[in-house]
Amino acid sequence: RSSDGSLNVQLEAGGTTLLLAGRQASALAYNKEIPGPTLRIRPGDVLKIRLINNLSEPTNLHMHGLHVSPQGNGDNPFIRVDPGTAFDYEYRLPRDHPPGVYWYHPHHHGGVADQVFAGLYGAIIVEDPEATNAGLERILLVSDTTLDPLGDIHPASPMERMLGREGELLLVNGQLNPQLTAPPGDTERWRVINACASRYLRLRLDGQYVRLIGTDSGRLPLPVDTDELFLAPGNRADILVETVTGESVLLAAPYDRGSVRGMAGPGGAAGVPPAAATPVALLRVSGARKTSGTAVPAASEALDLRLSGVAAHRQLTFGTQMGMGMMGFTLNGKRFEPTRTDITASADTVEEWTLLNDSPMEHPFHLHIWPMQVTEVNDRMVKGVRLQDVVNVPANGRVKVRVSFADFTGRSVYHCHILDHEDLGMMGVIEVR
Ligand code: C2O
Ligand code: CU
Ligand code: CU
Repeated sequence: RSSDGSLNVQLEAGGTTLLLAGRQASALAYNKEIPGPTLRIRPGDVLKIRLINNLSEPTNLHMHGLHVSPQGNGDNPFIRVDPGTAFDYEYRLPRDHPPGVYWYHPHHHGGVADQVFAGLYGAIIVEDPEATNAGLERILLVSDTTLDPLGDIHPASPMERMLGREGELLLVNGQLNPQLTAPPGDTERWRVINACASRYLRLRLDGQYVRLIGTDSGRLPLPVDTDELFLAPGNRADILVETVTGESVLLAAPYDRGSVRGMAGPGGAAGVPPAAATPVALLRVSGARKTSGTAVPAASEALDLRLSGVAAHRQLTFGTQMGMGMMGFTLNGKRFEPTRTDITASADTVEEWTLLNDSPMEHPFHLHIWPMQVTEVNDRMVKGVRLQDVVNVPANGRVKVRVSFADFTGRSVYHCHILDHEDLGMMGVIEVR
């Protein structure tokens, strides 16, 4: 933290050899570690990041979920940082920025899935001004990858790209099935991030008392008892774990996200049969009882955008297109073109978008900068208000969201967060002015 109150961070993206899942691996990393350094910031902060590109290909940086300007050297996905060069990003968080768990990763179109799968990601915590963290706080950044016999990151086949690649190794903070220990009676705060390129996570921690306090940037007014967390790629969960003596396995339950028409993959996952649950971590709770835990103050109910007037209704259709031997993934029949503006919205208005999935596989829809409120899933009303930046659109299904284009103007993107689909074109450009 420098004298003017800004936070200065240097992130060097580069190739590195490190121990991954107990094996010597050649991967990509920020500052030679997987995951990259955790960024802890507060509402109102100015975060300055120098990104140094020591990769052999272009990259850039995206602050997933942060409500910051997309203009200039802010969270601008059109910036390209060439090998051997550096770029200075500057992010100004509004004073009322929602506290919560976010993450960062590269966003250079065409190389996003490869770079994330190879190790480029890290956690961001926007701290609660009021929470008392007497209990332990843990960040569980869940990612997946596959190592070839020589320890190189497995390059995805055309089929794996179409389905969305899933790794053989499911990692927590870069570790395979880590063992966590805790005393009983504590209330720990866990920040769980799905940083997998394509894998959906259904997480269970049977034997412990788990309450959900937030999803993405949306904080629940009161904690809700939960026995399963559903995280599409890019989603995060903020949970309280009240520890109970014994051993609990954090499990990823199987999930079928569908397949591509005419291309049967087991459950749609590339090479990974979804038949069995995968252990993600082991929690051992033993010893003397602890009594002081984390207390998170009740959040005020967020503004319900259903009560707002709607300035525009739009429909986005998720589809596929065959071309040059490779399947293209489209939104409203078009593949991503950075110079085209697909949606022009007016600043400070609320819009309603219908997300229509015209394909037999699920697509997790992500909009940068402005969070979405889900109002309907497959024609069923959704109760309560929860702001999300990744919203799953079921296979052949339909989801309605409302978005408030408040605070910032500029050009940004929306896309499928199966990163292979994003790289294959399932992305559009929005300009708010
Ligand atoms: Cu997490 Cu546009 O990305
Ligand atoms: Cu994002
Ligand atoms: Cu998709």
